Amino acid sequence: MSIEIRKVGVIGAGQMGGGIAQVAAASGYDVALNDISEERINAGLATINGNLSRQVSKGHLTEEDREKILSRIAPAVTYEHFHDSDIVIEAAVENEEIKRKIFQALCPALKPSAIIGTNTSSISVTRLASTTDRPEQFIGIHFMNPVPVMQLVEVIRGIATSEESYQATRELVERLGKSITVAEDFPGFIVNRILLPMINEAIYTLYEGVGSVESIDTAMRLGANHPMGPLQLADFIGLDTCLSIMQVLYEGLADSKYRPCPLLVKYVEAGWLGRKTRRGFYDYRGEKPVPTR
Ligand SMILES: NC(=O)c1ccc[n+]([C@@H]2O[C@H](COP(=O)([O-])OP(=O)(O)OC[C@H]3O[C@@H](n4cnc5c(N)ncnc54)[C@H](O)[C@@H]3O)[C@@H](O)[C@H]2O)c1
Repeated sequence: MSIEIRKVGVIGAGQMGGGIAQVAAASGYDVALNDISEERINAGLATINGNLSRQVSKGHLTEEDREKILSRIAPAVTYEHFHDSDIVIEAAVENEEIKRKIFQALCPALKPSAIIGTNTSSISVTRLASTTDRPEQFIGIHFMNPVPVMQLVEVIRGIATSEESYQATRELVERLGKSITVAEDFPGFIVNRILLPMINEAIYTLYEGVGSVESIDTAMRLGANHPMGPLQLADFIGLDTCLSIMQVLYEGLADSKYRPCPLLVKYVEAGWLGRKTRRGFYDYRGEKPVPTR
């Protein structure tokens, strides 16, 4: 039996959830967007509006299309708004306990055929699925940041994920104009298993005084041809998310080579989480980003 997706729910209106809602609405889906409060949802909608307005001013989108896309995204203050969603994609913070609580509260509000997707960067899809009433209809849909720009979506099947759920997810991702890579359900999947240890090593390089923020980023941009330096990228991802992923790798793979750098922990404890808090390895509060070390 094939599952057709028409209505998409999104939980978490931050960097990723907002991006997923925007891309889904731009592809013609009706979207319901949830977060912990009406203010957070409105902040997410304002960011989406800002992104779309920028596209209008660059001539990439018409004013009419901007309005149409926005009108397809409805705020969902409670999970009851997801009663007719064919899929709900969870993109709340990278914290297993919070995600578990979300799924437990979400399931009773969904129709039986609805699929649940998680945008987790690293947490076991199988384990998250086990907290729901529908492990067969649970799947990892890992979008990249920023969602409207990045081409890849990593799809992760849990041990119980059905072929129907996988095919429906595949069709959705293709209709969003994205490319798929399939990863097995291991900590960090493919992208973050490789990317985050590199970022963590860059932070150790800074911590041990091998180089400054600027010299490390310049080294990797010009020496390894990376489009942005690893510390700039860490700020972009969010240092809290980077730390959570390293903790999942460290605990899940039980190997000391994944130990999160103490300097990363310190930045997170300071609330310097990168671009989203306007301070991380760079300070974004002025006209130009200034390295903080
Ligand atoms: N930042 C990245 O580069 C990136 C890339 C791929 C995947 N992810 C994953 O996407 C998810 C979200 O990351 P982000 O970068 O958007 O974080 P973010 O901090 O920008 O946004 C998280 C949002 O979740 C909301 N939230 C927290 N608890 C919630 C709850 N109980 N119910 C509903 N909303 C809740 C917060 O209010 C916030 O708006 C994480 O699982 C992260 O690992 C992040």
